[in-house]
Amino acid sequence: MSTVWLITGANRGLGLELTTQLLAASLSNEIIATCRTPAAATDLHKLQASEMGRVHVVPLDVGSEQSMRDSVKYVSDILGDRGLDYLYNNAAINPAFDSPFDFDYAQLLEVLQTNLGAPALLGELYYPFLLRGSKKTIVNVSTGLASLGLDCGPKCTSYSISKCALNMLTYKQAKTRVDFTCICMDPGWVKTPLGGEGAVLETTESAAGILGVIARLTPADSGKFWRYNGTQHPW
Ligand SMILES: NC(=O)c1ccc[n+]([C@@H]2O[C@H](COP(=O)([O-])OP(=O)(O)OC[C@H]3O[C@@H](n4cnc5c(N)ncnc54)[C@H](OP(=O)(O)O)[C@@H]3O)[C@@H](O)[C@H]2O)c1
Repeated sequence: MSTVWLITGANRGLGLELTTQLLAASLSNEIIATCRTPAAATDLHKLQASEMGRVHVVPLDVGSEQSMRDSVKYVSDILGDRGLDYLYNNAAINPAFDSPFDFDYAQLLEVLQTNLGAPALLGELYYPFLLRGSKKTIVNVSTGLASLGLDCGPKCTSYSISKCALNMLTYKQAKTRVDFTCICMDPGWVKTPLGGEGAVLETTESAAGILGVIARLTPADSGKFWRYNGTQHPW
């Protein structure tokens, strides 16, 4: 019996590393690795070739409502009557070090659509598949910048707002379905294009930590704001 994961933005960065580690961790893991440009997802196609049948590369642009809706048909064809165990909302953007009195309005809306609207819609679209899965788990990838309690200051205003709202979405999902496990996950400050200058963690360390936390989750852990190392952030 497979454990099926759907991961957004799986073509590079943390999404790719999580896909790689899940495939290595257990032969039962099957990954629906989504990305906006499958033709350019060279690393994913290499994984697909070496892990026959356990990786499905599916087009999914989280900036497009139509693409998100269209992805359901692909996934439905892959799963048949089977359920989805994990929805892992990883894809996100952080295009600016903006501040509350100096930001680009169109960019703010794009960040909200990508980092909040997409995980919300994907949660709704894949809810029937999660109902049929055994793990019933949604991981919404957040950041320490979304924590009010950490008092991170004004930097990355649009990104922080979007992830703070994503945390509230996660809380609402957890309270709506107490038989689901819905969490926010901060991967730490990781050496990827999004992490930028000064990041301290390798993707390997962050992904290994995240998968360890997820493996230990129970429904009692739902609605919480986890870090990759198993500690929790204040809201
Ligand atoms: N790195 C950090 O320090 C850090 C810290 C806290 C939280 N996070 C979170 O961790 C997650 C992964 O970030 P990362 O560091 O791995 O970033 P990354 O290396 O920049 O990768 C971002 C991924 O998101 C995808 N993506 C962006 N817009 C998309 C769209 N419209 N449709 C589909 N995919 C899209 C990218 O695909 P393309 O290749 O097509 O652009 C890429 O696969 C994000 O949710 C981020 O907010 C990261």
